[in-house]
Amino acid sequence: MKAFIEGMPKAELHVHLEGTLEPEHIFALAQRNNIELEYNTPEEVVAAYDFHDLPSFLKIYYAAMNVLCEEEDFYELTYQYFEKAAADKVVYCEPFFDPQGHTSRGVAFETIIKGIRRAQEDAAKNLDIESNLIMCFLRDMSAESAMEHLEMCLPYKDWIIGVGLDSDEKDNPPSKFEAVFARAREEGFKLTMHCDVNQKDIHGHIRECLDLIKVDRIDHGVNSLEDEELIQDIVDQGLGLTVCPVSNRFVVQSLTSNEIREMLNRGMKATVNSDDPAYFRAYMNDNFIALAEEGNFSQEDLVQLSRNAFDIAWLSDDKRQKYITKLEQYAAS
Ligand code: ADE
Ligand code: ZN
Repeated sequence: MKAFIEGMPKAELHVHLEGTLEPEHIFALAQRNNIELEYNTPEEVVAAYDFHDLPSFLKIYYAAMNVLCEEEDFYELTYQYFEKAAADKVVYCEPFFDPQGHTSRGVAFETIIKGIRRAQEDAAKNLDIESNLIMCFLRDMSAESAMEHLEMCLPYKDWIIGVGLDSDEKDNPPSKFEAVFARAREEGFKLTMHCDVNQKDIHGHIRECLDLIKVDRIDHGVNSLEDEELIQDIVDQGLGLTVCPVSNRFVVQSLTSNEIREMLNRGMKATVNSDDPAYFRAYMNDNFIALAEEGNFSQEDLVQLSRNAFDIAWLSDDKRQKYITKLEQYAAS
């Protein structure tokens, strides 16, 4: 099973580039950029990774990203993630980035996006991994700041396929960003939003994603299974859900394998993703392998999960078909 997973072509649709910042890299960048750290070794950093809910994770995540300052830093971050993803047979990726986590510290938007873009181009050439970037707004910041960043990104519109919404969900519903997402839609962006696991008002947040924002997919969305009407609408719309098993384990002490099984049974387009792999210490294959073990998933189930990701990816139909053919050939062999 492990070898089957390792060789299977995959698409990753829910990974925060800042969540791929490895402890050793935090140290190297801190030194290069003259930033003082609270820790003395990368091991001490990992020892401090004591997450049990979203706020306790975000606190450490935002503190660490302070070491990202120059275009080269964003390039290295992104390229090093692609190296790991390519080794895991990820052939297509739609990574998130959080510009407000950097512009709020005085880093120019141009610096961030140019570094990421150059890494995407080099990864396509050298690693044969194709990618399209998603810009996330931080939902615990204001709608005005989100709108400013939407306008800031317009000169680079061709480098961004869609917009998302992440960070602390408590009391920050989708409706807070209705105007921002309406404008993003007008500008031609695809739309997604986090509906993180077990958040306050989560069923209402998922409902707003469907009816008010009219998202093209949902990140996480596991709690939709607790509401028959949500399930029905998600199935009817063929809406994708980007589920992150190991990330979920930090919140619900399970890889949500029962929930993912239920989604497959109900015809919901569930996918497997790594979320913040440097923090949760699990990249794509680690997520698939742990999930297959906990949930006793068959090869057919795993192929279905991978197929779902290509199905819901923001790709042209001919590219989508190319990847699905590759996956089918792998499964048949
Ligand atoms: N930002 C980075 N990772 C996140 C997650 N899992 N949920 C919400 N915001 C995030
Ligand atoms: Zn996420």
